[in-house]
Amino acid sequence: MKKHKLFTPGPTSIPEEVLLEMARPIMHHRTEEFLSIAKEVFEGLKYLFQTKNDVLIIGSSGTGAMEASIVNLFSKGEKIIVINGGKFGERFVEIGKAYGLDVVDVKVEWGKSLSKEELEEIIEKNKDTKGVFANLCETSTATHFDVKGYGEIVSKYPDIVFVVDAISSLGAIPCYMDEWKIDCLITGSQKAFMLPPGLAFISLSQKAWEKTKNSDLPKYYFDLKKYKKTLEKFDFPFTIPVSLIVGLRKSIQIIKEYTLEKIWEEHKKRATATREGILSMGLKLLSSCPSDSVTGVILPENINGDELIKFVRKNYGISFAPGQDKLKGKIVRISHLGWQDEFDVLTALSAIGVGLEKLGYKVDIEKGIKKAKEILFS
Ligand SMILES: Cc1ncc(COP(=O)(O)O)c(C=O)c1O
Repeated sequence: MKKHKLFTPGPTSIPEEVLLEMARPIMHHRTEEFLSIAKEVFEGLKYLFQTKNDVLIIGSSGTGAMEASIVNLFSKGEKIIVINGGKFGERFVEIGKAYGLDVVDVKVEWGKSLSKEELEEIIEKNKDTKGVFANLCETSTATHFDVKGYGEIVSKYPDIVFVVDAISSLGAIPCYMDEWKIDCLITGSQKAFMLPPGLAFISLSQKAWEKTKNSDLPKYYFDLKKYKKTLEKFDFPFTIPVSLIVGLRKSIQIIKEYTLEKIWEEHKKRATATREGILSMGLKLLSSCPSDSVTGVILPENINGDELIKFVRKNYGISFAPGQDKLKGKIVRISHLGWQDEFDVLTALSAIGVGLEKLGYKVDIEKGIKKAKEILFS
């Protein structure tokens, strides 16, 4: 028998209490009973986003909210700057181009970040820009970007809105929408919210809502004005995945009870222990500016990462994420997102170590575990 364990940066493991809530008989979404659950959820989301703005819920994966940010905030031909440090920065570039925007594609070396000063220089060279896009964690490279610093810069320009994809980081690491001057913040259900995939979340500042008034890009399902209008009655414009909302109420209750600060602190501790453990085992890290929501590990040259992941999943029931695109086969990614504890770190490190050994590459597993244990239980 194998216990299946997810160390993928989405979907992530779901606590039993949340699973049980979602197993309850389905209810109709236009009933008082459901709308009172939705009301609680909409209120709770403001805490998760650290905002006074409404947080809208869309029945889609996170990419739906990324597309919504483009089609609602901009008009054909407008210039946007995208900080593109991996697959998900690249996604904003692709969506922007698909809708006819003039995209300044700021390619950042994979595994590296961009300073706020560098961003300011780029804006100064592109003063007609209407939007700046960043990922708080670029999941494909496990890299953290200085969203707080970027917010300070972008907020100096009254005609530019700041859009942040925090799909693999909101609820795992600090992110203060209002304080950090983020105009549009996006996340998804299948990461730190401890839910299955299927819901996307998006919140707009007053500055961003103003910008929606002139947007001429085509939209229907992703027209955020529809979602804002129905939210007045804690309702949704289209049939929302009812069970996910019921589960979300429970996960918000768990997060609120625990507090975001404590959750952020624990993610940081687990991520630090993982990184130090990996280094002590004799392996290398992918990112020079690592996120505390996911860790990227560079594998030895003679090891194929995809084979390692397949081997560990098949033999031990443990799932890691592979490298994407140019990193395919070269790395393994370990998620720290959501419902995890200290012993999960030890499991992840051992699984990678044992898997490598079985594929013929010896690492010092004991040294890695010892180091991680010191950090986790000090
Ligand atoms: C940073 C980031 N952005 C966007 C996405 C895309 O989200 P989805 O697969 O839910 O559409 C992901 C998914 O892993 C992500 O990690």
